[in-house]
Amino acid sequence: MRFKIFFLFFLVSFVSCKNSKKPTLIASVSNNETSIDLQKQIDDCEHQLEIAVPKLTDLTKHPRLIDADKTAWKEVTNNKLIWTSGFYPGILWYAYDVTGNERWKNEAIKRTEVFEDFKNITEHHDIGFMMFPAYGNGYKIGGKKEYKDILLTSAKSLASRFNSNVGTIRSWSNKMHPRWKQHITIIDNMLNLELLFWASKHSNDSKFYDIAVKHAETTMKNHFRKDLTSWHVIEYDSINGNVLNRHTKQGFADDSRWSRGQAWGVYGYTMVYKETKDKKFLDFAQKITDKYLDLLPEDMVPAWDFDVQSNPKEEKDASAAAVVASALLDLSTFVESKEDQERYYNAAIKMLKSLGSENYSAVGKADSFLLHSTGAKSLGHEIDVALIYADYYYIEALSRLKNLEAKK
Ligand code: GLY
Repeated sequence: MRFKIFFLFFLVSFVSCKNSKKPTLIASVSNNETSIDLQKQIDDCEHQLEIAVPKLTDLTKHPRLIDADKTAWKEVTNNKLIWTSGFYPGILWYAYDVTGNERWKNEAIKRTEVFEDFKNITEHHDIGFMMFPAYGNGYKIGGKKEYKDILLTSAKSLASRFNSNVGTIRSWSNKMHPRWKQHITIIDNMLNLELLFWASKHSNDSKFYDIAVKHAETTMKNHFRKDLTSWHVIEYDSINGNVLNRHTKQGFADDSRWSRGQAWGVYGYTMVYKETKDKKFLDFAQKITDKYLDLLPEDMVPAWDFDVQSNPKEEKDASAAAVVASALLDLSTFVESKEDQERYYNAAIKMLKSLGSENYSAVGKADSFLLHSTGAKSLGHEIDVALIYADYYYIEALSRLKNLEAKK
């Protein structure tokens, strides 16, 4: 397959919005197989924010989901035990990144700085999900260097949950998840490692790096089946580190293939390779990505669990597709062979095109960017809804694509 990407339409326009930090690159990206109107998908996101942001005025809460029969975000309290508080500010930081519009930066600052005290959370692993999209993007995209200490403290809190007998960070407490009595690690935990890599680079403390690498190695060894699909929850013996149980919380069954779990793995190992440049992580990222791609339906958006996918009535999980699309754009730049670069890039474009289409876009239907995600069907909630983290990884992917195209 010949790879021929070209800008059909390449126009640098000086944005009419007077508060912009930089000119906007308007591009359509196309190749033999598919094409995407990147600027339209970015414009759609900005349009959705223009509708949603004025409604989201309570700084003690963050938008979490939109039920299938509603159009406005359901907000939940910025509570230490709720893992999603960082995604809304993260979306605003990326909105600033892709549009240059200072309005989103100002809003992002406002929505980031309300939960600074979460830096001390040691009750669960989600501090990475909570702090990095908000403060990490604020540091990187917004130039907010004053967030450094908050991020370093957050990394220390996360690192405090590392058990060296096991070789992983303890994801959940047994009190909140009483099915398991000992050390629990979930595949989602891979994403939290990014905070540790960041902390290692921004301090003189290699402990953060060592913990992240050990966690990734142990998870690679224990968390994946022979067929390269992932279990959700592993219970380890806290003292000798042996695997006691392989289970699920959000998947269809203990031994089923929960789609977002595999997506976290794809994103996680791609990121670990980016941070370590250790080839074994790249090889592994490719293997589990190839497995994920093999399991996908025609529209590139999985059902919420691959083991229910043959039933067309089962709900989709657009959040998994957004997570993987973002990861694939990075992965396509790490792999050596031109064929793999094209394969991953094209798959990402197809996913983003599908997500931005009438089938998944919320434009004209609800206040989110995307519809049709599933948080936890096995627990009976967040079924076929809009989810804030689906929107986060979607706009992250658009930002990555825009940066990739700008480099060409
Ligand atoms: N980290 C929680 C989830 O993926 O639902």
